[in-house]
Amino acid sequence: MVKDGIVWLESCASTNDEAGSLVKDTSVVAVAATAQTQGRGRAGRAWHSPPGAGLYLSWIGRPRFPQSLGSVVPLMAAVTVAELCERLGVKVQLKWPNDVLIGNRKLAGVLCEARGTPREWTVIIGIGLNIFRPEGGYPDAVPAVALDEYTREELDPKDLAEELVSRLDARLTELGRDGGAPVIGAWERRGYPRGSTLQRGDLRGTFAGLTDEGALRLATETGIHTIHAGDVDIIE
Ligand code: BTN
Repeated sequence: MVKDGIVWLESCASTNDEAGSLVKDTSVVAVAATAQTQGRGRAGRAWHSPPGAGLYLSWIGRPRFPQSLGSVVPLMAAVTVAELCERLGVKVQLKWPNDVLIGNRKLAGVLCEARGTPREWTVIIGIGLNIFRPEGGYPDAVPAVALDEYTREELDPKDLAEELVSRLDARLTELGRDGGAPVIGAWERRGYPRGSTLQRGDLRGTFAGLTDEGALRLATETGIHTIHAGDVDIIE
């Protein structure tokens, strides 16, 4: 079924892969599914995608600005999900670069995949949003949380998908027009407070804000380290 440019699938391996095969069809704005059999997360991890529990959505961004601004896109996606949650009355925190958390448990994850040339490119923004807590809860290895534990608002995955798509569209237009500053500011308001202790591998330091490109600045005994990719753990 296609509604408002969103292709709805009962189940598929990964909506990012489905969207990837449809980028040339400009009538398609996103692919969404009620289940994924091989949902993909960042860093080669799997994304647990049980039927009916979450929204699995891949939006096809077709930016009209050069790919040099592309590093801000994953943060933009996290901010967009956070704004949707806040509209539902749910307060979230962001973990760099694009995890959406309540406490230390994950409410949503984002997997961005860019393709094309630096001047003409597309980005697939895959969003996994936990809407309904599955019967029996989440696997122990997955510290997760769902929206229905925190709001009494009606949660219709189709309405949430449409709202996300329209918010992503507006934020991408803003990014092309105004540059990365509005997104960076919106991310920092929902991210860790400056001075929070963070750990990246053997490197421990405190959060010193984001760069204009959305990289994380870690203040350590040996100076500021700028981290462009990967995971950073929150210690306190
Ligand atoms: C992460 O936190 O590691 C990112 C998770 C991204 C999951 C979403 S669900 C929709 C889209 N399709 C996928 O296979 N992955 C993304």
